[in-house]
Amino acid sequence: MATALCPGSFDPVTLGHIDIIERTARHFDDVIVAVIRNPQKKQSLFSLEERQQMLKEATAHLSNIRIEFFKGLLVDFARDHGANAIVKGLRAVSDFDYELQMAQMNQRLSGIDTFFISTSPQYSFLSSSLVREVARFGGDVSGMVPPKVAKRLTERWAERKAAEPDLS
Ligand code: PNS
Repeated sequence: MATALCPGSFDPVTLGHIDIIERTARHFDDVIVAVIRNPQKKQSLFSLEERQQMLKEATAHLSNIRIEFFKGLLVDFARDHGANAIVKGLRAVSDFDYELQMAQMNQRLSGIDTFFISTSPQYSFLSSSLVREVARFGGDVSGMVPPKVAKRLTERWAERKAAEPDLS
């Protein structure tokens, strides 16, 4: 039984993430999408539960996927869940330096290998942070995130701006 981890913040999930998850699911028996609980990033736009719900909806067509949360080291979570591999998408050379460093550290800490999948070209410019920014200022994010995520983005920014007009 080969289990892969697809880790990330998923704030929110994009079509680029879904592409990587779908392709990982073809190569492994079981895929755990591991959503980090304590990202070292600024405040999240969506709660953990909202991110989990959006991931569940976006991966409902895949039978070998589980969505879980983790905190602390990814390799500890991998060990606790019997995962054999970490799978990451690589969008561009700019991703490579940091991803290589993390892969080597994770290998050193645990012996778990990281496999890289090249992002499909139509998604190579996509990131959750850019999608959040475009949606914040009313840009069209259709074709970048699932339709339900696009709707949630519009709603969330409307709520945030109503509470904090400076965000407009
Ligand atoms: O979607 P992101 O924010 O780029 O995902 C980054 C993530 C969660 C994959 C990475 O920050 C991570 O693995 N964090 C867990 C903490 C950890 O294990 N750190 C050591 C990595 S070498």
